[in-house]
Amino acid sequence: MSAQRQETVRRLSTPEVTARKGGEPVVCLTAYTAPVAEILDEVCDLLLVGDSVGMVLHGLPSTVGVTLEMMILHGQAVMRASKRALVVVDMPFGSYEGAKEVAYANAVRILKETGCQAVKLESGPTIPETIAYLVRRGVPVMGHVGLRPQAVNVDGAFKAKGRTEDERARVVAEAEATADAGAFSVVVEGVAEALAREVTEAIPVPTIGIGASAGCDGQILVTDDMLGLFDWTPKFVRRYADLRSEIGRAARAYAADVKARTFPAAAETYFANARWNRP
Ligand code: KIV
Repeated sequence: MSAQRQETVRRLSTPEVTARKGGEPVVCLTAYTAPVAEILDEVCDLLLVGDSVGMVLHGLPSTVGVTLEMMILHGQAVMRASKRALVVVDMPFGSYEGAKEVAYANAVRILKETGCQAVKLESGPTIPETIAYLVRRGVPVMGHVGLRPQAVNVDGAFKAKGRTEDERARVVAEAEATADAGAFSVVVEGVAEALAREVTEAIPVPTIGIGASAGCDGQILVTDDMLGLFDWTPKFVRRYADLRSEIGRAARAYAADVKARTFPAAAETYFANARWNRP
């Protein structure tokens, strides 16, 4: 090592994210692949390997079909390519809602096989008990309340929450129970601003909003949505790029070059100028 002490880069920890409650906003995005994780790592506090990967990369109609193996594979890719951000991996539908012991075994598999620092669970009414069980055994947990995409078959559609007083009270109670159980932060998805603010005031850990207004302690978006990779953008997404058009433009230009035999040119051909290689 040189005389100058090398600066060690280390990841943000779950207590450091919790300590941001009410302070500097927590910047989060989803990541599923190594090249994208490497780019996002420079600017994000937290990278979520969301089970949205099933819809975004694998073309599934919902997150219900996502498996533990898919989450582990994408979690490994994101961990290999990042070094600063806290990496959280979603527990997929069916991997944590039954016996707490099964949830623990699956969470441990995710932590051990990916090296990530925490898992995320959608916090339905029975889940806080499981969250407490995991946290007490050394598994950091991020909760997820409001619109819970894994409950789509019960709800009938991806519907924003908090239209009725009952529903609002339920979301606040679930967030409180999730925080009481030891979650280090809670994603709040698809709720009106007043409810997002009520939840944020009610719990002592950061709320991370998606479609939940600026009233949260941090924000997360599905990266592919904000990059404009789909032809439809949900209301709550701001598009920071239009990669769908850009990819289409690049592919059309490539196809035209191949058809016109202008690609590959000499600069893109091995030994193009070597005398022994002249046809
Ligand atoms: O799976 C996911 O990407 C998520 C975010 C929408 C929070 O849960």
